[in-house]
Parts: sequence; C-alpha cells; structure tokens
Amino acid sequence: MTQDELKKATALAALEFILPQIDKNTIIGIGTGSTANYFIDALAEHQDEFKACVASSTASTERLEKHGIEVLPLNTVSDIPFYIDGADEINPYFEMIKGGGAALTQEKIVAAVAKSFICIADESKWVDILGNFPLPVEVIPMARSYVARELLKMGANPVYRDSVVTDNGNQILDLHDFQITGARDVEQTINQITGVVCNGIFANRKADHLFLATKDGVKKIEQR
Ligand code: 5RP
Repeated sequence: MTQDELKKATALAALEFILPQIDKNTIIGIGTGSTANYFIDALAEHQDEFKACVASSTASTERLEKHGIEVLPLNTVSDIPFYIDGADEINPYFEMIKGGGAALTQEKIVAAVAKSFICIADESKWVDILGNFPLPVEVIPMARSYVARELLKMGANPVYRDSVVTDNGNQILDLHDFQITGARDVEQTINQITGVVCNGIFANRKADHLFLATKDGVKKIEQR
C-alpha cells in the first residue's frame, strides 16, 4: 500500500468509529492536512447524519464547503464531541508533533474545545521519541529573530519557513535537531517565550484515540 492509501484507510476507520456516535445535532471538529482531507471527502457521503463542522484552517473550511458541508465559527459552538486530525509524529503516550501544514494554532484551539481527539495517522508517524520531525513554532513576525535566539539557547536549531504566512498572519520557525523528552514541560517552556503564539507539541492536550494505518491494516492502538 502507498502512503496515500494508508492515509485514506485510517480516515475511513475513524469515520466508521464516529458514525454510530453522531446524530443530526452533532458538530464535528476537522483538522488540516492530506489525511484530514481524506476524512473530509469520506464524511461528505454522510452529510445528513450530522449538523455541521468546525474547521482548523482556511484550507479545510474551503474543502468542507466545496462538499456543501456547513462550517460554523468556533465562537458560536461550545460542544464538539469529536476532533479528527492527522499528526506529523505521535508517540505511545499519544503526545504529538503537529503543524507541518502550519495550521497548529487553530488545530490546538479546536482540539481544546473538543471532548475527544481522534488521531488518524499512517505508520510512518509512529515514533518512540518526538523530534525527528522539525517542531513548528508559530511566531509574531516582528519577534521572529528574538524567538529564534531564545530557542537556540534551548539547544534547538530554528529554521525560518520561508514565504509561509499562517492563517493568523504569523510566521513559522521549524526546530531541527531537537529531541523532545518531557513533552508537556517543553511545550509550556516554549510557549513562555515572548512572541511565540503556539508550538506544535500537543502534549497538554494530546490525542485520546489513535487509528494507525499499517501494511497489515488499520489498528486502534491503546495508549500507554
Ligand atoms: C497540519 C498538521 C497535519 O495534521 C500534519 O502535518 C499531518 O499532515 P498529513 O496528514 O498531510 O501527513 O498538523 O498543520
């Protein structure tokens, strides 16, 4: 199976998981990225079975609306039973690195509101220790160089993601050579740097469920 086939398989497994648990009043939280796109496309076949979605990016909003699915502003919604999203890395504690698509801040906000975070990932994302994937940090543009110097002091190698502007009008630094142990603390420490909007460690709000697509099928993994 190709990686795209694995991504589609995990998205379909997550959909099968939520379908019996939703009704015409349900609002579903939607992530961003190619795996989330497979979920959106499959969800479109079930438009009559839920009320609307809340999306974590302009790209996902546009894809949902193209399918005719209503997308509500998060400020009008208080109850989101499920948030479905991919990850760049996920460890056995279901802590993740996200933000490869630069949507980390809105992803973290929608995930914070959701009761349950369902991670959909192919097996290339499964790691013991987070950090091989460069950790995205969203920064206020004028603070970029200052934040980069502070991150250097933490032992990371920050690289400016050239020409990328987030949906919030900010910039991204990707932290290379930065193995993450004690993810909850590292997440909070980076957030304390003035000028940081958000970083891509999802440890204080980690996933609740993981559907991991492998060559032997999609496995619902138990959290360590
Ligand atoms: C976007 C994300 C994505 O969930 C993450 O990058 C995984 O993407 P893909 O499903 O395309 O592999 O965090 O900001």
